[in-house]
Amino acid sequence: MVNSASDSVLKVSNLTKDFSGIRAVNNVSFELNSGAITAVIGPNGAGKTTLYNLISGHLAPTSGSVKLENKEIVGLTPNLIVQAGIGRSFQITSIFPNLTVAQNIRVAVISLQRKQFDFWTKVQQDRSLNQAVKDILELVGIEALAQNPVNLLSHGDRSLVEIAIILALKPRLILLDEPTAGMSREEAQKIVQLIKQLQQATGCTFLITEHDLEVVFNLAESIIVMHQGQILLQGDCQAVSDSPEVRRVYLGT
Ligand SMILES: Nc1ncnc2c1ncn2[C@@H]1O[C@H](COP(=O)(O)OP(=O)(O)O)[C@@H](O)[C@H]1O
Ligand SMILES: [Mg+2]
Repeated sequence: MVNSASDSVLKVSNLTKDFSGIRAVNNVSFELNSGAITAVIGPNGAGKTTLYNLISGHLAPTSGSVKLENKEIVGLTPNLIVQAGIGRSFQITSIFPNLTVAQNIRVAVISLQRKQFDFWTKVQQDRSLNQAVKDILELVGIEALAQNPVNLLSHGDRSLVEIAIILALKPRLILLDEPTAGMSREEAQKIVQLIKQLQQATGCTFLITEHDLEVVFNLAESIIVMHQGQILLQGDCQAVSDSPEVRRVYLGT
């Protein structure tokens, strides 16, 4: 990897999305630096999930541009955007509940390798496939869950499997929409630790939405505050917690 910390991975420019009568995302522009963890926060209805859906190709913008490493991705299908290098939870590679954790990861690795697949080297492929599955289980720290069917896992462990499946697709940017939603404090802490570890181990760039500000301040180097579809402020934890405007939006005064 030759990326320096200041390289831009994602560049969103003047992105707007109208639903009938509602401008859910309003002229949003920002850049994500390579390897950084950035959080998007804002009250319910601020436009966070819509922004994600625009980046991942699940929604088409009314106007604006999204560039991944300088290539325009607006107009690509969600599938092609995954292949281009953006991983996202709850995407097309949904979990197969009756398969084991290892089998689910295997399916994701195969879907990535399918293009290079050559039956003459099948044995070799199988070995590298097994190794790839093992590496991912280790990376996420879920080796002990490998043989468990996914539908018997706790909510927290299921989220770990989802992250493992995202990693199997070898993304350079990972979008996580409220990864700790519905979790106990302990489970949420585990996810936060894991994301930090993954950042170190993989060099991936992360964009995370999260409503728990404690989690956000613990995790993110940069925070984008959204309100009514617009970016109210982008800055570090200090800038966000010092901002009277942010406080006004959160406290509703
Ligand atoms: N598919 C849709 N059709 C119409 N309005 C939508 C749709 N999705 C979101 N909205 C509206 O867009 C605004 C932003 O929603 P959303 O992106 O879900 O916000 P957040 O994730 O920050 O809570 C809200 O007013 C919401 O009601
Ligand atoms: Mg949302």
